[in-house]
Amino acid sequence: MRIAVTSAKGGVGKTTTAVMLAALLGQERPTVLIDGDRQGSALTWRHQAGEQWPGTLPVERWTDPLHEQLTRVPSGVHEGLSHVVIDTGPGDPERMRAAVAAADVVVIPVGARMLDVAQLQDTARIVAGAAHPGLSWGVLLTMRRGATRSGEIAPAVIERDGFPLWATEVPLRESIAAAAGTYPSPVPAVYRDLLEELREVNAEGITDAAR
Ligand SMILES: Nc1ncnc2c1ncn2[C@@H]1O[C@H](COP(=O)(O)OP(=O)(O)OP(=O)(O)O)[C@@H](O)[C@H]1O
Ligand SMILES: [Mg+2]
Repeated sequence: MRIAVTSAKGGVGKTTTAVMLAALLGQERPTVLIDGDRQGSALTWRHQAGEQWPGTLPVERWTDPLHEQLTRVPSGVHEGLSHVVIDTGPGDPERMRAAVAAADVVVIPVGARMLDVAQLQDTARIVAGAAHPGLSWGVLLTMRRGATRSGEIAPAVIERDGFPLWATEVPLRESIAAAAGTYPSPVPAVYRDLLEELREVNAEGITDAAR
């Protein structure tokens, strides 16, 4: 599976989501996390984790063009033998498009507290512009506070505006914030739910069993 985690907006949980998904996928088969943020946030995370971080989960700096970098990923992505997770930086339409073009599933994190429909429209336009047959994409609500108005309204607003929404919602949790700069072990269960959901849509119409 090739997952792109992307959004035009900053601070919405992109890198956190990318790291958590990569950690889960890396427990199963070779996985590469590609850091497309020009500030290098996944790489910084990985360096902070130091020895804790398994050598079997490489974090690579994005190199242009991305599709060529993916052909160099050593573990046989194109034979469907491994997974790739791509993190992108905020406000980087060029890399957003390249990441979407290379992905088969796209996750667009949106902070429930800071839902910005205009930004979401920008992101959706970019994703739609790079979409290809077989691509699945959806908005992921992150940092959702339990019973708050913003938490309840956000999904309705997103759906009203016609954006597909992953059913999984990531709560606002101190333990998730505290995982930054560490190898997440165990990965919070909510990311397992998300991964399961991504897999389900990705499996539809795709016969390659390895995906
Ligand atoms: N579910 C959550 N609960 C609490 N804190 C969270 C959660 N998800 C992310 N955070 C924290 O919110 C901040 C922003 O998250 P993150 O860096 O993943 O966002 P980003 O979209 O990658 O940001 P940037 O646009 O700067 O790359 C971080 O401090 C992170 O630890
Ligand atoms: Mg980031």
